[in-house]
This record gives sequence, structure tokens and C-alpha cells, in this order.
Amino acid sequence: MKGRFPLTKMRTEIRKIDAESLALAKEIILQGGVVGMPTETVYGLGGNAFDDSAVQRIFAVKGRPADNPLIAHVHTDYDLSKLIDYDPPYAKKLREAFLPGPLTLVYPSTGKVSKYVSCGLNTLAIRVPSHEGAQAFLREVGLPIVAPSANLSKHVSPTSAKHVLDDFDGLIPLILDGGECVGGIESTVCDVTGKEPVILRPGLVTQAMIADVVGSCGVYSPKFAAGEKVKSPGVLYKHYSPRCATALFASDEIAAASEYAKKALAEGKRVGWLSSESAKSGLPSGAVLFNLGMTEDEMAASLYAHLRSAEEVCDLLVAIEPQKQDGKMAGVLNRLRKACASVDIPH
Ligand code: TXA
Ligand code: MG
Repeated sequence: MKGRFPLTKMRTEIRKIDAESLALAKEIILQGGVVGMPTETVYGLGGNAFDDSAVQRIFAVKGRPADNPLIAHVHTDYDLSKLIDYDPPYAKKLREAFLPGPLTLVYPSTGKVSKYVSCGLNTLAIRVPSHEGAQAFLREVGLPIVAPSANLSKHVSPTSAKHVLDDFDGLIPLILDGGECVGGIESTVCDVTGKEPVILRPGLVTQAMIADVVGSCGVYSPKFAAGEKVKSPGVLYKHYSPRCATALFASDEIAAASEYAKKALAEGKRVGWLSSESAKSGLPSGAVLFNLGMTEDEMAASLYAHLRSAEEVCDLLVAIEPQKQDGKMAGVLNRLRKACASVDIPH
């Protein structure tokens, strides 16, 4: 590993975004180091996309599987032709409609970034975040910055600088503090290498919103034939999980969820109840309420913070799926289901 930022314990600073912290962030990036950075969706762990050792450091520090590719983040005026080989006309329409913002587009790659970024795929995922602090940082460094969500692999994604510190204290030198993320779930990832756009990971830019702009939009299902290379490897992994047991119930199973929670309370367990405003009626006395709110935007913005709070104070989190399941809720449900994929979470 090059530079003065080896993978050994170091002091981690949280700094508000200003001229001084941006200059420090740039220095770290140019030396192959990794910086925690805000975006409008979740915080990222950023490094220079052209630097093999910086990219490898990101995988190492997160404990990320080596076959899960990274997204390159660029500022609004960055010349994409350096990075992408082919730009279908419908991709331009998507950029005009949604960028900067929470939509990542997967293009055929020129192969100029580090070979570790896309893990052997001939494509590159590119995102132009709308967060002012992210833009200031990307402009300061003038480089594409690869940034996975700034959580340890499999843990809940971070929506505040404090969440990043909780996972990486002593492992990275700097976290740029841009406040709480307003979006709350990761960007929509959309493949633009084919005839029509195909959503690989749902998010706040929905299938209907994309189809409205370009006429049609597919959704990729991660089921794949034996031997076929999966298009977006990250979608297969268990993800976003709090470090407590979880039990997920459908929106029409409130009574059963309540019984389940009561039984655990009777066994002396500390129980949390995660639900939308409308399903909090089932909350048994003695359980801690984590209220996702009423609107889809509220639910997206609060989900990860609730999962991180719950793991601090609960042995078991009983979660109720929100009733609405389409549109932006497809992304929220995708994260909630992965977070609660099993009741016995070993990590
Ligand atoms: O909102 C976000 O996208 C956040 C913030 C920090 O920008 N980043 C994020 O990165 O969620 P990460 O690494 O946690 O998730 C990246 C997703 C994974 O599902 C990965 O498989 C997919 O993007 N991806 C990256 N490059 C890809 C490629 N070339 N082809 C298909 N999928 C790709
Ligand atoms: Mg992630």
C-alpha cells in the first residue's frame, strides 16, 4: 500500500465541509487514501478510481466481496467520454431528467479506471450526486471517486457522519460531515448498455419515472441460469442488517407480529417494533417503537437510522412491511427485506 495512510489504526477526524477540510480530503485522495463523504442517498467511502491501491483499500477496509463492483462518482461538469465507450441517446435523456441525483447509470466502460473497480465486468457504473458537499469534494479532487456505501460489508448503510465513524473509527483518516442524508436509501442502479434501460437495484428514481422519460424500462431479476454471470453482483448478498435478531411480518400480519413480540418480551428479551405510522397499533407494551413515518420519502429517509438505533437497544427487532409496495416503496422494501433476511444474524 502506498502513501501515508496504511490499513493500520489511525485517528479518524470528522470535519464540516469547508475549504480546509476539502484541501485535506484532496491530499488524502491523491496519496491513495480513503475518505468518508456525504451524498444525498447515503454516505460513501471514497477513493481515486484510477488508483489500484486506493480501490483495493476500499475493498479491504469494508470487508467487501471482491466480485461486487463499485460506483464512480463525478462532478456535474465531468467529461464522461473519458470513462464511457458508448452513450445511447436514451441515457442522455435520463441524465437530463434525473442528474445530478440518486440515479446511477451502468455504461460500457473505456477501461481507463482501475481494473479493480468493475471486478472484471466491461461496464462502469457512474453517479453524479446532487449533495452540495459531495459536489464540492468531487470538484476539488477533479477525479472520478469510487465510493461504496460507508458501512462495513453487510451492515446497515450510513445516513450520518456518526454512522460512518461507528463502523470505521481508526480505519480511515477523515469523514466529511455533510449532515443527515435526505434520501436515505442508495441510488437506483440502471443498466444503459442495452436497447432499453434496465433497473438493477431499485431506489428513489423509480421504474415509472424512468419509463415516463424514455418510453420503457425493464427490471432485472437476480435469478440467473447456472454459469451465467450475474449483472449486478451486490444484489445477491445479504445486506443492510442490524446486529440484532430480526423478524419480518407482512402488512396484514400485525396481530401475529404482536404475539411474536409479546412472547419475546415474556422471555425477557429487549424488543423493538419497526413499522409505518399506520401499523404502530400492534405495538405491545414494553416494546420500543421505531416509527418509519407516513410518506414514502419519510420511510426511505428514516429506515437505516432506525435499524442502527434498534441494534443498540434491542435483542429482537420485529418489523412490519409497509402496505404500499410499489414506486419508491419498492426500494425501501428491497432494503427492509434484506435487512431482515434471517432471524439469527451472526455478525
Ligand atoms: O447511493 C449510492 O449508490 C451509494 C452512494 C455512496 O453513492 N453507493 C452505493 O454503493 O450504494 P455500493 O457499493 O454500496 O453499491 C453499488 C451497487 C452494487 O449493487 C453493485 O453491484 C452495483 O452498484 N454496481 C456497481 N458497478 C456495477 C456494474 N458495472 N454493473 C452492474 N452493477 C454495478
Ligand atoms: Mg452498499
